[in-house]
Amino acid sequence: MVPCGDGLRSTGMLVKGSIMRNSDSSRPRALLLVGLLVVAGSLCFSFVGSTADTRVMAAPPDAAAATLYDPDPKHLWNRLHCALHIPTVVDGDQDPPQYARQTIDPNDLDPFFWYPHHPYLLSGSAYREALALLDEFLDKQGEGLVKDSLKRALLQRDLWTLFDWAADPGWSNLGEKDRFVNERRELQTRLGRVIPRLALSAREIEQLPDNYAAAVKARRYPTEFDADRKTAAFLPADLWDPKGPWVLLGTSAGGHLAGDHVSFFGGRSTFLIFLRLPEGRDQTLKYLEQLSDWQRKRPKGDIPRDIPQFPANTQVALARRTVLLDDRGEIRPTPLTEQVQLRILHDPTSKDGVQTFLQFRLRREQLLEGQAGELSAVPDDEGEWDYLFNLGRTVIDRGFIRPIMASCGGCHGNAPGVRTMNSFARGSLRNEWDVTSLGDEERRIGAWKREQSSWKLLKEFR
Ligand code: HEC
Repeated sequence: MVPCGDGLRSTGMLVKGSIMRNSDSSRPRALLLVGLLVVAGSLCFSFVGSTADTRVMAAPPDAAAATLYDPDPKHLWNRLHCALHIPTVVDGDQDPPQYARQTIDPNDLDPFFWYPHHPYLLSGSAYREALALLDEFLDKQGEGLVKDSLKRALLQRDLWTLFDWAADPGWSNLGEKDRFVNERRELQTRLGRVIPRLALSAREIEQLPDNYAAAVKARRYPTEFDADRKTAAFLPADLWDPKGPWVLLGTSAGGHLAGDHVSFFGGRSTFLIFLRLPEGRDQTLKYLEQLSDWQRKRPKGDIPRDIPQFPANTQVALARRTVLLDDRGEIRPTPLTEQVQLRILHDPTSKDGVQTFLQFRLRREQLLEGQAGELSAVPDDEGEWDYLFNLGRTVIDRGFIRPIMASCGGCHGNAPGVRTMNSFARGSLRNEWDVTSLGDEERRIGAWKREQSSWKLLKEFR
């Protein structure tokens, strides 16, 4: 954790990135809290907001800012980063909960994403600061302050998220005073000008680091599943090999397969789904044929029990990679892997068949330092805004930080093997998987993005 700007300090705080406590005396309470969170997490959609229990008090005024983009904490890019990767401490005793501005997690994956129409950046000092920083960026040609392609890519990605958030058509469904029409416009006009200024050329984008390959090469994790260590984290070495054992899935229904993730993250990331049966590519392709054959022939009505099932230890993956806007205003996928989620179905025939859930995340700090830990496994106590890992389906209208790994079972459990596959089980098992290529799936996601109103709005600024 890196202190960011002045703000507030908390005891027993819930911090994005990890669930922390900062004094021994708060320990029993913090442990209880983590326990509660795990239980709440496993309920997935039925969270209530009362589990976050933190006390907030004033912090020393001289807290240093983050140094992600430059060693000088006062560097404009660092200040902008801090303003957008806002508070990480939640005081759940307050109603509405207070987001105390104290620390940022430099490895934070997504900027400002607590829940869809949160007013924090649209009112008060946070709003004024965001505008002032963007004005400073425009006036001083802030894009020239940093030359490194990777840093430019990361900042553009964050600002694009914010632009899309401000341009979300859902705002118009809110009451007059919650719509913030003018404030959003003020943000958009600035962001819409800064984003293209940070654009890289197609060639620079192509040359961004392949952090997945680097993480595999570093061998911090085993590079394949080991049936004797079923729950151990591993990062498959051959995930992206188009001829390898992992088969990239698309949908015969048209469009891209990972519809929920792509739309929740606004098409600013590609999401790719891979299937790997234990014996590799041939077995996987054969299974897919069998499955579509079954789908074509199956009688109408309830889900039949004779669905061809995965063999034990089938592995599935969902990978997220960054998409950028290039210097010609085109949507361009990058080799930067932001996240990889894996599920290993140890016993696909039983309803509650044991599964292992894994997640690897890009860690900005290490990435920018060129270290091998740039993509690392999410430990059980790492927290995130629940709104994010629940793909916006959290029922309460305010975000909380909860353990990421406790969430998986809620959306991927209680069904045997292939039926825990959200990309398959949707649509009464009617949508057929087909085998696709990386380029095709990326193009389909780009085509979706081009249809979005936020994209059309962003184009107006070019
Ligand atoms: C809010 C519900 C939700 C949660 C929580 C969730 N997922 Fe998923 N997951 C989905 C959906 C929906 C898909 C299908 C792809 C799509 O439409 O974007 C999916 C797809 C996947 C896939 C690709 C295979 C498939 O099922 O289609 C993997 C692997 C995966 N998730 C792993 C995880 C892991 C690991 C976690 C916990 C860290 C997790 N998921 C948490 C909803 C969820």
